[in-house]
Amino acid sequence: MTVILRGLAWLRDSIANQAERFFLRVLAAGPVPRHVAFVMDGNRRYARKQQKQVQEGHVDGYVALRRMLEVCLRLNVQCVSAYAFSIENFKRSEDEVEALMKLAEEKLLELCEHGDILDEYGVRLNVLGRTSLLPEKVQLAVQKAEYMTRHNTRAILNLCMPYTSRDEITTAVESCVRNADPSNPIPATFAGPDRVPDHGSRCPSKTFSRQLYLHDRHPTPPLDILVRTSGVKRLSDFLLWQCCEDTQIQISSTFWPDFGLLDFVPIILDFQRKAWGRRISL
Ligand code: FPP
Ligand code: MG
Repeated sequence: MTVILRGLAWLRDSIANQAERFFLRVLAAGPVPRHVAFVMDGNRRYARKQQKQVQEGHVDGYVALRRMLEVCLRLNVQCVSAYAFSIENFKRSEDEVEALMKLAEEKLLELCEHGDILDEYGVRLNVLGRTSLLPEKVQLAVQKAEYMTRHNTRAILNLCMPYTSRDEITTAVESCVRNADPSNPIPATFAGPDRVPDHGSRCPSKTFSRQLYLHDRHPTPPLDILVRTSGVKRLSDFLLWQCCEDTQIQISSTFWPDFGLLDFVPIILDFQRKAWGRRISL
């Protein structure tokens, strides 16, 4: 009896998996975002709701990240960026920070293993932010994971940790000032991505963008969609420079660990509707 039930469960999962693959292939035939970013919020509220430990909420959050990464890769999204740890998160309890660091170390090593998701889909991993603030063991895991995936060219996963946009922007400004050519005039303002003319300024916008964590080592495509989960309407200091005029900001009321295909499909359909609308009006 148990064997029959197990067999039926396997059959059900296998059919669901095939149906999902087929559906994603159909969706991928339309315009697909080049770069999707996730503010993975709501892990602790999810844990409270499920009567789990906070740490378990973060573990389930990691499972959701893998799930959404795979969905994006099947849709042929070129670049996925995820806010895994803000510099501000160091202010959380010692226990929570320690658990998050342990999770990061363990999962970074798991992600880059041969045969795992990054290898299977040809994804290059970048860990972006003020990585010198991470414990040494995590820094070693970062170096190993980045090294193992350095030749992958089909897609990019940017794990932003420990990151804030203000840190990214001030670091880039400092770098521009250090590299400035004193024979050129000083720019009046930084007006936004690629808005400042490249002529006659010491640190034009394009040069400035190249100093950002998200552009530093490998150019990333423009940010098409920024998803924030858990219903909170804040950017939380994430990708402020990259949220250019065409970025679609999407707020989902689902807590991150519960976020899945059913939450993401309406976001992609909305993107496709707007992309088709733009093509027709051109
Ligand atoms: C925000 O929810 C989530 C985080 C601060 C951590 C996100 C980390 C993961 C999903 C795992 C990342 C995996 C790797 C490999 C680094 P919250 O804690 O603010 O929850 P709340 O909004 O309900 O309080
Ligand atoms: Mg939160």
